[in-house]
Amino acid sequence: MDHTLSPLKREEDAQEERLRPLSLSEFQGKEEIKENLKVFIRAARQRGEALDHVFLSGPPGLGKTTLGSIIAHELGVELRITSAPALEKPKDLAGILTTLSPRSVLFIDEIHRLKPAIEEMLYVAMEDYVIDWIIGQGPSARTVRIPVPPFTLVGATTKAGKLATPLVSRFGITFHFNLYEKEDIIKVLRRSARILGLSVEEPAFDLLSSCSRGTPRIANRMLRRARDFAEVYGKGVITPQIVRLTMDRLGIDEAGLEAHDRRILDTIITKFDGGPVGAESLAIALGESVDTLEDFYEPYLIQCGFLQRTPRGRIVTPRGYDHLNIPPRGKDSDDETQRFLF
Ligand SMILES: Nc1ncnc2c1ncn2[C@@H]1O[C@H](COP(=O)(O)OP(=O)(O)OP(=O)(O)O)[C@@H](O)[C@H]1O
Ligand SMILES: [Mg+2]
Repeated sequence: MDHTLSPLKREEDAQEERLRPLSLSEFQGKEEIKENLKVFIRAARQRGEALDHVFLSGPPGLGKTTLGSIIAHELGVELRITSAPALEKPKDLAGILTTLSPRSVLFIDEIHRLKPAIEEMLYVAMEDYVIDWIIGQGPSARTVRIPVPPFTLVGATTKAGKLATPLVSRFGITFHFNLYEKEDIIKVLRRSARILGLSVEEPAFDLLSSCSRGTPRIANRMLRRARDFAEVYGKGVITPQIVRLTMDRLGIDEAGLEAHDRRILDTIITKFDGGPVGAESLAIALGESVDTLEDFYEPYLIQCGFLQRTPRGRIVTPRGYDHLNIPPRGKDSDDETQRFLF
């Protein structure tokens, strides 16, 4: 456990863990992914082989890590979890690969951040279940091939575009997660409310789902915040009024946007004339990293239809202008007059 975390954060993490689905049947939504995965898992089990390597990509909080551990659970095999930044030297990966039990699942998070030497070792291991280990240095150096047990690599990333092509091509199964549809977020909320023993009025689910950014992790967080308001300001029941109060107090509007989302749209409109603007320039103007902008904020603004990524950069759509109550560019003659006058 990380003792640098505040007690509150630790408690939140523990609650999140309680809500993490352990089997495919508990994993809500994403029917297509689940149906295909069921077939692949069943076939691998029937053949007594390791499941082919699985690549999971998509924005944060959509269930990539969860699905990784579910795969191991459904296969009935051991699960080892690590992340690319934790693998500093080839020997770190070699140490894991050589001690895996047969057909186990090795989950590597943030797989786009592997160091080149480790990535190369992984290529060979994925393809031939061996590692090439160099002994000695200089002219006397030689390579020995060490067999590793058949295993399934589950690689997860929020940045599929940053992965080297040779690595991507070695995954036999690839799933990309998009933000969840509203009905699926409601399923996640229902399940979590049941596990936490909360009483939620039916229309409150709908409202909660609209401020969850299509993301199960955020849906669970919203549910916990609504529970806080229900306990302090209500009788413990999560009603639509309680959800509205929660949204209001957290600065979330009816489209589910937070202040920072609105600031992104507003910055593109006021500083870049509505776009197109490149990710770097926009990130600088916002004082934000490009990664955070692209991984966390943009997917939801795009899903709402407020922002578009074009080859020349980001633009705010007419719907985006509308949401901020700003007249779209060139459509407002008063605006043009003002520009002319000043
Ligand atoms: N399909 C789902 N059904 C129910 N709960 C889910 C589902 N997907 C995710 N969750 C919940 O959301 C939380 C976040 O999921 P998870 O940690 O797997 O996301 P992630 O995609 O790995 O995110 P990151 O990119 O930040 O690592 C989980 O703890 C789980 O409780
Ligand atoms: Mg994860």
